[in-house]
Amino acid sequence: MSFPNKRLRRLRKTPALRRLVAETRLSVDDLVAPLFVREGIDDPVSIPSLNGVQQHTRESLVKEVTELQSLGVPGIILFGIPEQKDPLGSEAWNPDGIVQLALQDCRDVVGEGMVLIADLCIDEYTDHGHCGVVREDGSVDNDETINIYGRVAQAQARAGADIVAPSGMMDGQVRAIREALDKDNHEEVAILAYSAKYASGLYGPFRDAVDVTIADGGDRKTYQQDWRNRREALAEIRADEEEGADMIMVKPAISYLDIIAEARDITDLPIAAYHVSGEYAMIKAADSQNLIDGDVVALEQLSAIKRAGADFILTYLTREIAETL
Ligand code: PBG
Repeated sequence: MSFPNKRLRRLRKTPALRRLVAETRLSVDDLVAPLFVREGIDDPVSIPSLNGVQQHTRESLVKEVTELQSLGVPGIILFGIPEQKDPLGSEAWNPDGIVQLALQDCRDVVGEGMVLIADLCIDEYTDHGHCGVVREDGSVDNDETINIYGRVAQAQARAGADIVAPSGMMDGQVRAIREALDKDNHEEVAILAYSAKYASGLYGPFRDAVDVTIADGGDRKTYQQDWRNRREALAEIRADEEEGADMIMVKPAISYLDIIAEARDITDLPIAAYHVSGEYAMIKAADSQNLIDGDVVALEQLSAIKRAGADFILTYLTREIAETL
């Protein structure tokens, strides 16, 4: 062997060589687009904190989904913004609720050509903004909430969801949803569990997107994870797998690459990672100030998420990446 050994540098010499030896390949197949559909608007509404992302009408949603399908994007995840919010979030399981109607619209245009995922939570639908039922003392009632999640899952499955994705971080939610789905003859509907979901500061723009403010300046630290913890995430993932999750998710992504990598070691289920609103907004903001090249950083971050071990990525970058790849 020659010294110094230049083998590694030899393999970096040209773009074609680098392409040949790349260990991680990002493709449109890896991407899921989060989309927002809002009840009671006549035109799509831009979300100021999420440059380039919109609250859709049913019509504009269908158009967007059709375009994503022609770009080869394999899936979308839908979030609804109802006109009426109440303490239980009852619009979340109304058969005529906005997400249920939007799922049917999308199914009509994509057939089996795209995976339709429904985010399963009630924070967009509750007037207090929590992901669960709130007791008089202000705490969230875990068991009451998972009963409600079961009803939401049934409504979403009846409306045509391929996958329901519980994001509320209640204990036992996956089992409760699986039982509710099976009882309603939806054994074919899969569960993508937001298993390791941290109480992150990176969800700010999303809460603007869905008009959610948590009552009394509250937060989600009693049900979402503490970012200081790693083993807790692994316990959450194991529990969800045992309860019947078909896929698991780590969220956010970039600050939690260690968790993605460890998840890869402990489960054979497909692993999703959510590159969340704050991660997207930071790239856009820094790019607009010419501090970074946003297109480069976007590819770098998504590739890093795959390198860590994720099988697919939920990202607001989906459309632009699909257009460039
Ligand atoms: C809860 C939910 C949130 C996100 C997805 N599902 C917000 C939260 O937990 O407060 C955040 C996604 C993002 O920031 O892009 N239903």
